[in-house]
Amino acid sequence: MEETKKKVMLSGIQPSGDLHLGNYLGAIKNWGARADEFDCYYFMADMHTITVRQVPADLRRRTLTQLAQYIACGLDPEKNTLFIQSHVPAHAELGWVLNCYTMFGELSRMTQFKDKSAKHADNINGGLFTYPALMAADILLYQPDYVPVGNDQKQHVELTRNVAQRFNNIYGDVFKIPEPYIPKTGARIMSLNDPTSKMSKSIPEGCVFLMEKPEDIQRKFKRAITDSDTEHCVRFDPENKPGVSNLMNIYSAVTGKTMAEIESEFDGKGYGVFKPAVGEAVIECLRPIREETERILKDKAYLESIYKAGDEKAAYVAGKTLRKVYKKVGFVAR
Ligand code: TYM
Repeated sequence: MEETKKKVMLSGIQPSGDLHLGNYLGAIKNWGARADEFDCYYFMADMHTITVRQVPADLRRRTLTQLAQYIACGLDPEKNTLFIQSHVPAHAELGWVLNCYTMFGELSRMTQFKDKSAKHADNINGGLFTYPALMAADILLYQPDYVPVGNDQKQHVELTRNVAQRFNNIYGDVFKIPEPYIPKTGARIMSLNDPTSKMSKSIPEGCVFLMEKPEDIQRKFKRAITDSDTEHCVRFDPENKPGVSNLMNIYSAVTGKTMAEIESEFDGKGYGVFKPAVGEAVIECLRPIREETERILKDKAYLESIYKAGDEKAAYVAGKTLRKVYKKVGFVAR
């Protein structure tokens, strides 16, 4: 009997720091809802993290915590394949092949490379530069239709499409060309203390972590930078009011309210009321995730059983694509 094939979704996050609100609203929140409709693969991109120096014990701890957080955020392991990138050797193998089909000029234009090489000027290694070829391999191995990511990863998904097209032009239809899948709200959460930079772990005061205590989250929101205009009203205007607009974007993403609804809710109330209200909404959104993560983390055997099952399924699917690629480029069958 012919099985009707579901569309495929895939994404990953680097366990290079604790997960934050940007990762949640830009990526994970968008993943779980579609598990019945799609065949879904989500992984911990541990191989990517060593492009920057890591403390080994911290990397191990964060990788497992991230898996617990994926589950706590609603990714049912029965319906989603959850795995660890370094456990599926096909990523490194296809990554090498795709390095040979990715151009120096293309890699030089990647914003993440430019940002990270500026931040880590003493360690601009080859991996940091060729990282997008490994990311292309992560994606193309699973032949996904959609890659749900925040805005900052769009450029990498576009490069992936170009590399896949280049490969297909030479060897025929090997790779499906994936689409980035970017949420309407939450695709680009900015730092709370600098609304011109994206929220990231490298600016901890402006970053809300999923496991953070409610009082710390509220303190960060109360101190969030608002705008120095004179009107002091809650109005969505990213160009002239980037601080308030970022808070509105966060509030909209966690409550589902539109910008017009938010503007009328806080009409005449000013920032002193608005900022703690956003903090409270975020605390309530994150509370069940934090509590569930803490609960799951106590059961290491359960976590191990999840990633082992995920690794096996991922390796099976990835192996099929890799064998096809190896044959196409002319490697002798194993
Ligand atoms: P990473 O680990 O930096 O971020 C993981 C996801 O979180 C999103 N994100 C944000 N979204 C909104 N606002 C923010 N401030 C914010 N910060 C992060 C990112 O867009 C991303 O979706 N290269 C990837 C990891 C990766 C990957 C892959 C992703 C490796 N292989 C294959 C998809 C498919 C990265 O560094 O994301």
